[in-house]
Amino acid sequence: MVTEIQKKTLLQEACAVRERAYAPYSEYKVGAAILTGDGRIITGVNVENASYGLSICAERSAIFTAVAEGVREIVAVAICTSNVGSPCGACRQVMVEFAGDMPILLTDTQGNVRETTLHKLIPEYFGPGHLA
Ligand code: THU
Repeated sequence: MVTEIQKKTLLQEACAVRERAYAPYSEYKVGAAILTGDGRIITGVNVENASYGLSICAERSAIFTAVAEGVREIVAVAICTSNVGSPCGACRQVMVEFAGDMPILLTDTQGNVRETTLHKLIPEYFGPGHLA
């Protein structure tokens, strides 16, 4: 259960960290904040590279940081962009590895918010259960 206060905090953290995105090539800055099963918030930004294909999305950046901190369960994600952008397919797949059908909160710097869920974004996903 994710509270309204937790959702608001996640949205604020995603937009705050977005300021630190490194996106000189696309100029599309993304900030992500994830709420962990044990109540922590961990953030990430997109980090681009002159060798374009090496760039990493904000969502995966946050999730990989979380895993390095011992996290195995994610219960909500907020993503802040300039236009309430939705996560890419690769990030959806990486989220599935560590989450059930959690809330995904999309926002922009103007305070617009759209809430969806992970399973709406990636139906019929391939997950860890398929290897059991
Ligand atoms: N990007 C993200 O950080 N997350 C997404 O889900 C979509 C795309 C980044 C990658 C790249 O740095 C920029 O946005 C433009 O594609």
